[in-house]
Amino acid sequence: MSARALTLSVPDRQRLIEGAFEAKKGTYSPYSKFPVGAALLSVDGQIIKGANIENASYGGTICAERTALVKAVSEGIRSFIGLAVVTDVKAPISPCGMCRQVIREFCVLNMPILLVPADYPQAEPAEGTTEGGVRETTLGELLPDSFGPEHLELSRK
Ligand code: THU
Repeated sequence: MSARALTLSVPDRQRLIEGAFEAKKGTYSPYSKFPVGAALLSVDGQIIKGANIENASYGGTICAERTALVKAVSEGIRSFIGLAVVTDVKAPISPCGMCRQVIREFCVLNMPILLVPADYPQAEPAEGTTEGGVRETTLGELLPDSFGPEHLELSRK
């Protein structure tokens, strides 16, 4: 069973969603033509944006979520209370497996993750979504039974 999601205030939720749309403008995705924007909200109220940055050697591509996290952490921002992700798809799109693990390094399992449809706010949100068609989930839901930094602290034989 996953713990209850932490709650975002309405203004924080709105800032995160707007941040993700803003972030998407920074995409460099000439190969996939699949722009992604991500926004993190730090405990002290900062919005940190990231977009996907592709590479001609495809494996060098960095997802939007990891761009945002690496930007934040390398600037000394390490505590977060929310993440929003948006693409050009008119449905909520989930972070890839690698991004989930990188999020796991820095975020608590019940941190809210907002998956925002491209046509937000939707007039008729799909079932299972919240205001405007946003799918609200948590890291714990997206990455159950996960491995994290605390496991490296356990005593070993
Ligand atoms: N992408 C992200 O930015 N985040 C994800 O979680 C999934 C995939 C990007 C990587 C690549 O630039 C494009 O979407 C298509 O895979």
